[in-house]
This record gives sequence, structure tokens and C-alpha cells, in this order.
Amino acid sequence: MDKLVIEGGVALKGEVRISGAKNAALPILCASILSDEPLRVSNVPHLRDVTTMLGLLAQMGIAVSVDDRLGVELNAQALDNPEAPYELVKTMRASVLVLGPLLARCGKARVSLPGGCAIGLRPVDQHLKALEAMGATIAIEHGYMQATAPRLKGARIIMDLVTVTGTENIMMAATLADGQTVIENAAREPEVVDLANCLKAMGAKIKGAGGDVIKIVGVPRLHAATYRVMPDRIETGTFLAAAAATGGEVRLRDTRASILDAVLEKLREAGAQIESADDCINLHMPNGLRSVSLRTAPYPAFPTDMQAQFMALNSVATGTALMTETIFENRFMHVQELRRLGARIEVEGNTAVVSGAGHLDGATVMATDLRASASLVIAGLIARGETTIERVYHLDRGYESIEEKLSRLGARISRVR
Ligand code: EPU
Repeated sequence: MDKLVIEGGVALKGEVRISGAKNAALPILCASILSDEPLRVSNVPHLRDVTTMLGLLAQMGIAVSVDDRLGVELNAQALDNPEAPYELVKTMRASVLVLGPLLARCGKARVSLPGGCAIGLRPVDQHLKALEAMGATIAIEHGYMQATAPRLKGARIIMDLVTVTGTENIMMAATLADGQTVIENAAREPEVVDLANCLKAMGAKIKGAGGDVIKIVGVPRLHAATYRVMPDRIETGTFLAAAAATGGEVRLRDTRASILDAVLEKLREAGAQIESADDCINLHMPNGLRSVSLRTAPYPAFPTDMQAQFMALNSVATGTALMTETIFENRFMHVQELRRLGARIEVEGNTAVVSGAGHLDGATVMATDLRASASLVIAGLIARGETTIERVYHLDRGYESIEEKLSRLGARISRVR
């Protein structure tokens, strides 16, 4: 298993390109299921989760080709196996995003129930409730969701809670349903908007994406389209947090400030000076690093996917921060590992109290999930001496060429195979 070895203490400096967003690319690739004409997607990040998704779509009978610039073309004309097996779903929960499109296009789907997950229980009850409201019959048999619906019918759906993939699944299903679907309490994440824009390019009739009420009027079929995936706001935020925590100065290209306002606000509170233009963000740290308290919540509030990275930053900042996680019930697994590096963190319920320790000391730590791994990388960049991060395969699920990008910014980081 690969490890990352980081020699800490270097302030990140320079320019780096931000990749396409993992959490937009995954649903957009699934949108190909909805049409028997090709969908061409560009700016697809080269990540393990993307490879897993392409494998899943290919085994359904979808023709997948990838060009040398990572443009992906999918053609679902010959889709004949509307199934997502346990072996793939267990490695990537986003596989559940095939359920809505398969039901809409094929009238049936057999998708493994995702198991437990390191960061929380993560049930899919809202996805199922909504599809049932649209006329689907769903049974859970032998660990699989067996769903049928001759043709889905438009319905008014009130989500009990804000769910990103739940909103995406239902929005995709509704594009081919009979009549109008209204999703209330919909997720407002930029990735939902990106998926809606791709579906619209395919001929779908969608209004309101980005707000909490989305209206979709079903059409008989969707057609060929070409679409470019939005920049990854979590990769953007991770590089900015790393630069701030190391007292660096960076310029991030091919990204947009408007997709991460809450994160930029917290970085400014931490002492960063940030300027942005159309497609780039510049950050530098004129003064010292200050602690920032935060509370995760659905977009546009502070994202749960940035909580762990800010905990690494708070570990060495001046002051004490209260960090409350409201989305997932078990997303503090990085705390134990950060403590091994000397961080002073107490957890009370869903709140972590982080007292700035001034510095961290390198040690061997273990990555437990994607964003926890990113926080350990930031901690390793700050720490004195050498930090070894084990189980970096978590990181490869969601960060494209992270060690090359960090090296370009001056970090002393290498992968040991
Ligand atoms: N939930 C339910 N029932 C449902 C669906 C969700 O109770 O039917 C709960 C979840 O257990 C959780 C909360 O609702 O407590 C929010 O979960 P949500 O459904 O929004 O999460 P998700 O769609 O499974 C996406 C991202 C995650 C990100 C969350 C929150 C993708 C592929 N994944 O997950 O990304 O943390 O939204 O913003 O879009 C990551 O990239 O590291 C990652 C985990």
C-alpha cells in the first residue's frame, strides 16, 4: 500500500491548476444513462472514484471511451444490464446515483444497498421515498434495491433533509418522467447546478437548480450533448487551507471564488488576504494565523468536506476554535491522528474544541477517509520533521495528482510504493 512522506516546514508558494469537480463529474457521468445518444464530458478529473464509476457504467453495457486529454465519451445506446453490483457499490457510495437514471430509462434497476461508511450511517431512504412517490415499486432483497416503474410520474417531493445525491438522483429520474416533478428542500450545492446544466444541454426541462425548489418537466427523450465539468471547490479549498496554514502565497487557476464563499470568508477570518478574478484565486498571509470557529451545514454554509482541513489549520493557529459538524455523525476520525502530531483537540458530542498548539511534530499517521487524509497532508506540511501518512488510497479517490501539485508549490512530499 502506498504511503506519503512529507518533510514539513515549507511555506507553499506558486501556482497550481484546479481539476474538475469529483462530486459534479460522478452524477454527470451517470446522466449518460438517460439517453441513447452520446454524452461527451470534459474536465473529468483523473481519480479512483471516476475510474470506478466508468467501470460501473461499462458493465451495464454503456460504451465508454477516454481520450488522452481525459475527455470522456459515453454512449448508452446498448445499455442492457441495469444493475450496480455490491463489489462496486461498497467501494463508492456515489454508485447509488445510477438508481434514478436507470429506472427512468429502463423501467427497472437492481442496485446494491450501500453498506455503512466510515463517516456515518448514510442511509438512502430519501432517494427511495421520492422514487416511490413517482410511482416506482422498490423492494429490498438479498441486499439489493430492486426497483421497477413502467414510466415514472411527476410528483411533488418534500425531502425530509437536505441530501445532495438524493436531489441529483431524483432530478435525473424526473427528466424522463410523465409530467412535472417539484423537489422541495432540495440541495443547493453548485454540483447540483452543474448536473442540472448538463441535463439541460441534453434537452431536459429544469428550473430552479441552486435554490431549494427545483421544478422538472419530463420529456420523452434526451439527446446528445457536450459538457465541461465545473472546478472542484473542495480541492480549491484544500489548497487554500494548506497555503494559509503554512504561511504561503499561492495562485489557483481554473477555479472560481463564487463556489466557495463560506470557505473564503473563514480563511479571511484566519488572516488570509484573498483576491480573485474570473478563473483564479490568489491567497497570501500577511500576518499570523488565527483560529476560526465554524459549523458545517448544507450549501451555501461551510461544507462538511472542508471541516477536517480547517482542523489541521486550527491546530497551529493562535486561539481556540469550536468546530461543530452537523452533517455526518462520525466525521472526527482525523482527531486521533492529529493528536499524534501534537494537536490539542477535545471532542464533546458533535463539537471539537481545538486549542492552537503553535506547532506540530511529524509522526506516522493513518488516513481514514478522503477528507481526513487531506487534513493529515496539511498537518504534515506544517509539522516539524517527517510525517508519514499510511493508506493514502483514500486520498487518490478525490485529489488528482496531489503530491505533484504540492511539489510544484515547493512542498517536500513523496510517495513510497
Ligand atoms: N441522509 C439520510 N437519508 C438519505 C440521504 C442522506 O439520512 O436518504 C443523510 C446522510 O446520512 C447525511 C446527510 O443526510 O447525514 C447529508 O447527506 P447527503 O445525502 O447530502 O450526502 P451524499 O449525497 O451522500 C455528498 C457528497 C459528499 C458530501 C455530502 C455533503 C457526492 C458524491 N458526495 O454525499 O462528499 O460530504 O454530499 O455535502 O456528492 C466527499 O467528497 O468526501 C464526500 C463525502
